[in-house]
Amino acid sequence: MTKATARAYPNIALVKYWGKRDSTLMLPLTGSMSMTLDDFPTTTTVERAPDATTDTFELNGEVMGGEPLRRVIAFLDIVRARSGVNDHASVRSKNEVPTAAGLASSASGFAALALAASKAYGLPLDPAEVSRLARRGSGSATRSVIPRFAVWRAGDDETSIAVPIEAPDMRMIVVVVDAGGKEISSREAMKRTALTSPFHDAWVTSTEQALESMIDSCADQDFTRIGRITETNALRMHATIQACDPPIRYLSPQSVAIFDRVRSLRDSGIETYATADAGPNVVAIARPEDAEAVAKALAEFGSVRVMAPGPGAELLSDSEAL
Ligand code: PMV
Repeated sequence: MTKATARAYPNIALVKYWGKRDSTLMLPLTGSMSMTLDDFPTTTTVERAPDATTDTFELNGEVMGGEPLRRVIAFLDIVRARSGVNDHASVRSKNEVPTAAGLASSASGFAALALAASKAYGLPLDPAEVSRLARRGSGSATRSVIPRFAVWRAGDDETSIAVPIEAPDMRMIVVVVDAGGKEISSREAMKRTALTSPFHDAWVTSTEQALESMIDSCADQDFTRIGRITETNALRMHATIQACDPPIRYLSPQSVAIFDRVRSLRDSGIETYATADAGPNVVAIARPEDAEAVAKALAEFGSVRVMAPGPGAELLSDSEAL
């Protein structure tokens, strides 16, 4: 089999990954925890091309060059080194995530690419190995290999993988306030945070603690505690990023207004908590029975989607190849 197609979904972290211990091996400074979504997938076909002299990458029907192509080539170099198969490949992807809008298109993208490339190049297909490989493309992709809820441990090259964790059923209400590109990539911003934010060390320590509390809260099925940890950890990440020199601010006035609205919903008895990644979009979490009420209340801020825990990366049949 020299051609394979896979699909993966974005994930949203409840305890965030923000900072690398090793940027070549993509080892994070801390562990993180996320929910994989059930919509906005990326589908990717990898087709080995033994006669080609270079890799090619097509995204949503458009031939890509520059940084996106460079990242795909760098990833395929790792696949070639691991498999001992030196063929170049053509990669075709379809992304249903608004690209670079803080909704982690790189997570679904590299998780799908890792699984399709593993199959096409004859690498192991078990989730642990695919997660370990996906990590090299994009840190958050490590977790998108796993269905529903995942914990990604900091670890070393062998052990820094995501594994499933049981958590109470919940919904994510994704509010897309701005589907345009973000100003500064998470890669660059993480670097600047480590170099210039005076809050960086406190971020690392508090996130390690947050992850342990999150794991306990999941075991206890304690949605209230999960929500509190989620919102606090997100705001701490943004505070740490805002303290960079020069400063970086991902949250827009609109994003802040959504955090305020989420708090007022809580005050009125609908239990919901907010988080946001490296962009202005905000994601609220709620129990399944409250999700529609939260979605309705947040609709004034932008387009709103309710998402449930979704599947992990999965192989598709040839008939679904791009
Ligand atoms: O791996 P990246 O570059 O997609 O990093 C993503 C970082 C955050 O989305 C902000 C947090 C996270 O844990 O997903």
